[in-house]
Amino acid sequence: TPATKRQFRIWRGDETGGDLKEYLVEVKEGEVVLDIIHRLQSTEAPDLACRWNCKAGKCGSCSVEINGKPKLACMTRMSTFTEDETISVTPLRTFPIVRDLVTDVSFNYEKARETPAFAPPPGVAPGDYRMQQVDVERSQEFRKCIECFLCQTVCHVIRDHEENKPAFAGPRYFIRAAELDMHPLDARDDRKEYAQAEQGLGYCNITKCCTEVCPEHIKITDNGIIPMKERVVDRKYDPLVWLGNKIFRR
Ligand code: SF4
Ligand code: F3S
Ligand code: FES
Repeated sequence: TPATKRQFRIWRGDETGGDLKEYLVEVKEGEVVLDIIHRLQSTEAPDLACRWNCKAGKCGSCSVEINGKPKLACMTRMSTFTEDETISVTPLRTFPIVRDLVTDVSFNYEKARETPAFAPPPGVAPGDYRMQQVDVERSQEFRKCIECFLCQTVCHVIRDHEENKPAFAGPRYFIRAAELDMHPLDARDDRKEYAQAEQGLGYCNITKCCTEVCPEHIKITDNGIIPMKERVVDRKYDPLVWLGNKIFRR
């Protein structure tokens, strides 16, 4: 199939400001958006900045917003767009710009550091940890996370709300907390309460946008966030549980 030229709009700039620039670029069969960025870098835009590493959907580096939707540039096939569509590529909206398509994602590393680490059981030496396969499988899903931060950039709690950032760890760290909560050897038994009190779990109103964008198809909301919330709610806050208790007491 012959190559065709397609219209792109790519954000160029730095922390002081920038703009969408138009490019007409050759597209070949089977290509992904990252191929187009690379073609631009080797032709008319050698100084276009973009972060990437594996080109296989596994390093989580090439996260950008394509037509306003958070995606991995290396996993977004050009064949998913119509021939006459202009394709916009912009940096992750929730994080500060470094240059062009590169953002400073250190917010996420700070939240990672703030998430309490695995607490080994007292009295068991590291080489002696044992757990059942069924327990390994329960949290396996969450360990597939490639830290692309697409879920973090899409979540409306912080997407246009800088002021919520200090109090909100975000979906990626809710599933980390859930993973440790399910861990049979984790000695902390307050992961849910901690997530509610310190990680901002209560800000999440289960819109599920995080789950929709996850390239690893982790069921962030249903399998991570909701179970964490439900048990906290059961124990403390849910007005329906409270009402139920009152009714049953009569
Ligand atoms: Fe990316 Fe999914 Fe991990 Fe979020 S949970 S950082 S969307 S892989
Ligand atoms: Fe945000 Fe996901 Fe909750 S997008 S509001 S963390 S369900
Ligand atoms: Fe590694 Fe896209 S380049 S996930």
